[in-house]
Amino acid sequence: MAQQKQPQLFELLKKDHREVDQLLSQLEGGSEDQREELFSTLQEEFTEHCQLEEKFFYPQMKKINELKDLVQDALEEHSQAKELLVQLEDVIDDDDEFQSALSEFKESVQHHVKEEESKVFKRTSDFISDDQLRDIAMKCMQEKEKLHPSPSGGGGSKKKSR
Ligand SMILES: [Fe+2]
Ligand SMILES: [Fe+2]
Repeated sequence: MAQQKQPQLFELLKKDHREVDQLLSQLEGGSEDQREELFSTLQEEFTEHCQLEEKFFYPQMKKINELKDLVQDALEEHSQAKELLVQLEDVIDDDDEFQSALSEFKESVQHHVKEEESKVFKRTSDFISDDQLRDIAMKCMQEKEKLHPSPSGGGGSKKKSR
């Protein structure tokens, strides 16, 4: 049996996807007084995730002719979801409207995530090497670290592999 190691980029992005899923469920079930805090976490996580993909992942895909259409679709889905997120923020104080805007946002995000996980990641690994994917993953992790430096202030116990 061939050993298949999944490139860590997809693991990293899937982890973000699951976090967004979780925040969405919490917002659906949560009380109104938790809403603002959960919403701002969602906003931050979602926006950041899109930025990482748009800055490091999609541009590499775009260089490959066969992947261009997928990137185009993905970018459209990102901007649609971002618009829905703005609308969601507008109705944050109205319970009914919030829940209905939330389910619209959720549907849009879930569709996009499904496309990425079932199509985009698979197609990408046909054209982009594991080494390149690892390189993109590294850039994403560095950017994340830049945006959220570890609270320890970089205590040198973490081993760097290079
Ligand atoms: Fe994603
Ligand atoms: Fe995406």
